[in-house]
Amino acid sequence: MKIGISNDHAAIDLKYAIINHLEAKGYEVVNYGTDSTESYDYPIAGKRIGEAVRDKEVDCGIAICGTGIGISLAANKVKGIRAACVSEPVSAYLTKLHNDANIICFGARIVGEEVAKAIVDAWLDTPFDGGERHVRRVKMIMDIEK
Ligand code: RB5
Repeated sequence: MKIGISNDHAAIDLKYAIINHLEAKGYEVVNYGTDSTESYDYPIAGKRIGEAVRDKEVDCGIAICGTGIGISLAANKVKGIRAACVSEPVSAYLTKLHNDANIICFGARIVGEEVAKAIVDAWLDTPFDGGERHVRRVKMIMDIEK
């Protein structure tokens, strides 16, 4: 599986911790974020990962800024994206199970490295439930784009 990751200047160290964690598990990770500590506008980072997932350059995405909120708002403006901002693994699990979130977001100023790894693992290890009501509700979300 190929996973995209994007970030602003607030999340470089956490991004590399996540990349190392995922590569050690055998995932291929594509870096769409900044590697500079110069201020980098999170809407650019969110748009980039949103477009990469939309265009199927990667199977899914991880987006990290200071809070995780700004980058998730930006990624969610790209059609086809369901980016969920979470701060603990239970929400990460449930947003894949029920919402089929295709991008997971969190904040480098909010969660520590171990919680971030647990979030990513819970989200990647969980399949979409696929039950009728969840399929219908996800479709209802996507129909709002039309
Ligand atoms: C950057 O200072 C900060 O605003 C950004 O990382 C993020 O928290 C926005 O939502």
